[in-house]
Amino acid sequence: MSRINPFTPSFGSVPPLMAGREQLIESILNGLDNAPGDPNRTTIFIGARGTGKTALLSKIADEAESRGWVSANVTAVSGMLEDVIQRSVESAKEFAEKQNVNRITSLSAFGFSFTRKVTDEPKGNWRTQMNRILDELNAQGIGLLITVDEVGADTDEMRVLAAAFQHFVRERRNTALIMAGLPQQVSALLSDKKISFLRKAFQHYLDPIPLYEVRDAMRRTVELSGRKIGKQALDAATNATGGFPFLIQLTGYHVWRQHAERAEISPGDVTAGVEYARADMEKMIFRRTLDELSDGDRAFLDAMSVDEKESRLSDIKDRLGVSSNYANQYRIRLIEQGIIGSRGRGKLGFEIPMLRDYLRSGGE
Ligand SMILES: Nc1ncnc2c1ncn2[C@@H]1O[C@H](COP(=O)(O)OP(=O)(O)OP(=O)(O)O)[C@@H](O)[C@H]1O
Ligand SMILES: [Mg+2]
Repeated sequence: MSRINPFTPSFGSVPPLMAGREQLIESILNGLDNAPGDPNRTTIFIGARGTGKTALLSKIADEAESRGWVSANVTAVSGMLEDVIQRSVESAKEFAEKQNVNRITSLSAFGFSFTRKVTDEPKGNWRTQMNRILDELNAQGIGLLITVDEVGADTDEMRVLAAAFQHFVRERRNTALIMAGLPQQVSALLSDKKISFLRKAFQHYLDPIPLYEVRDAMRRTVELSGRKIGKQALDAATNATGGFPFLIQLTGYHVWRQHAERAEISPGDVTAGVEYARADMEKMIFRRTLDELSDGDRAFLDAMSVDEKESRLSDIKDRLGVSSNYANQYRIRLIEQGIIGSRGRGKLGFEIPMLRDYLRSGGE
């Protein structure tokens, strides 16, 4: 009998088990449980492509909803503000309907009054409309979580949202704003003087996940779906992921499907599956990530890929024939983008697994 493959190698999908994010999720949820003004209620997740930003926002929104919050989940594109309103209304109605099924009549009456007040009254500007929504929700003890994915600097709407949210906080309204973005986009956003409020947000970098957490999540994902994996196979699969969230799903997915009808995943399945995972990583992560870099960034990475393990900044400078100052600027940029990381005194390494091999092979 073959079972359904439990791994989720597609962007934005929440995996059955999220490796290594427990504490982060806990601290945000504690912030929601706590009074308005808790600093966790304004948070930004920062990470390179495929580090799990969207999945994390979805997971937090799900958890918040199961604690009686309403959530409006949007992406920072034009039309975002209107979308926040529509999603809030939609999500509040769903919430009221669920309560109705559970026969909590005061809340089903709330659903009715909410629709009437929020949708039927004259509009006003964005903050006014949001105040009305928050008044209605908060009067019933319901908080509103706003999640904004793919934040960046190039939107006026982000400024409006940030300014209004600052007032919501001051007025101690029961709300939270959780955002996510690529490192270079977030730093552009935070350097915008008009939204200095966001600089006070908690910033969480989505660093690689410790391998013991990866191992545990992979094993449990396999077992929850009714199969087994032995130590040797599990170790090999874990190591192949390098702690990179997207690669955890790609590896698990391809390893699983080698012999989905068998009760146990073998080391051979892992060897074969890892090859497919590598090929998908190239298509789905490396090309997208490298396309977003400048020629100078790319030259720096190519110069690093020559080394077997860590690279020394002084070697890279020599290979590129540039000044220390110039090399150092690219080092800082690439670290900020989550593509490379510092490995102690003047040394650097890749943060995205398999990227070195890809660059060596020509990377096109
Ligand atoms: N903590 C985790 N443990 C295991 N897998 C995860 C984890 N977080 C995310 N994933 C998986 O990683 C993949 C990428 O996740 P996601 O789409 O959230 O990344 P992202 O950072 O939003 O990427 P992008 O910047 O391209 O939008 C998905 O397949 C998701 O299921
Ligand atoms: Mg995303």
